[in-house]
Amino acid sequence: MTNLENINWSSLPFGYLKADYNVRCIYKDGKWGEIEVSDSEFVNIHIAATCLHYGQEIFEGLKAFRGKDGKIRIFRPEANAQRLINSAKGIKMEPVPEELFLEMVKKVVKLNERFIPPYESGSSLYIRPVEIGTQARVGVKPADEYTLIIFVTPVGPYFPEGFKPTKVAVYREYDRAAPCGTGRWKVGGNYACGMGATARAQENGFSAVLFLDPKEKKYLDECGPANFFAIKGNKYITPKSGSILPSITNMSLQQIAKDMGLEVECRPIPIEELAEVDEAAECGTAAVCSPLSEIYDNDNDKTYVISKDGNPGPVVTELYKRLQGIQKGDIEDIHGWNTILD
Ligand code: PLP
Ligand code: COI
Repeated sequence: MTNLENINWSSLPFGYLKADYNVRCIYKDGKWGEIEVSDSEFVNIHIAATCLHYGQEIFEGLKAFRGKDGKIRIFRPEANAQRLINSAKGIKMEPVPEELFLEMVKKVVKLNERFIPPYESGSSLYIRPVEIGTQARVGVKPADEYTLIIFVTPVGPYFPEGFKPTKVAVYREYDRAAPCGTGRWKVGGNYACGMGATARAQENGFSAVLFLDPKEKKYLDECGPANFFAIKGNKYITPKSGSILPSITNMSLQQIAKDMGLEVECRPIPIEELAEVDEAAECGTAAVCSPLSEIYDNDNDKTYVISKDGNPGPVVTELYKRLQGIQKGDIEDIHGWNTILD
């Protein structure tokens, strides 16, 4: 069992720490079985399973927070359940019913309560559902058998810088997804596609890649493992694209922006428009709301300076504070986003 006595909850990386339990459910003979609780970190699967050969793998990411009031809040799990269903339909896997997903999420959080970081730490419990095709097939065809596993791990910020602006790079020679491909679903293969570009960016001192739309390479798509948004005057602007993952954090920030009196525009954003924005950030469950200081267009050797003094801008800062405030229970959850554990 993992010993938590000497853990420094405030300086956790975004990494893996073994929790006590994970939960699993198997789809076989046309139905989902009983929820199983496991203390093993391993799965035993067939060497010809479709997830190993043909990429039948989808996943999710969501978080649970411990509030000042001691309550445990899970942020928008219904939205993750729906996105997992869309991803499953997208690559012909078996959709996990929303009720089953929610029951498993609540169960795994409860079982691992001691791994939920304390309120003051700024850390949270990351919940990772993953569904894989487990049937043996050699021909390319969807499996008839699937396994859903949900594990948890306590995490700190995705970017070690925390809430400090980072630089990102644009490279036209890489795509993370095709125009009508799997970018809109949370499919493991998308992340494999992004690894070459991301490694290059990181070697050159950037935190992530800002991908352009794969069809015309004119418009902003998304930013590594997160969506992109910018603040331009009184507007929150964010890309509309068929090849990006619909981010639950972005949807939430759009609502918060409206609550703050900003106008929200979801539309194609030409890369040149970066010269006119006041603030920019990437957003996601792991990335939360990470401000950007500079965007480097490698092919044109042009740097868009977003933050001249290297500090986060006032609107991105307020959005970040309000989002975190709702997630931790410090700000009233007027949109009913949190699931509070009994
Ligand atoms: N885009 C990609 C490619 C991601 O991996 C993620 C992370 O889940 C996001 C965007 C942000 O989505 P969400 O806010 O739902 O976590
Ligand atoms: C998340 O934000 O939950 C993600 O899935 C990003 C992850 C790939 C690190």
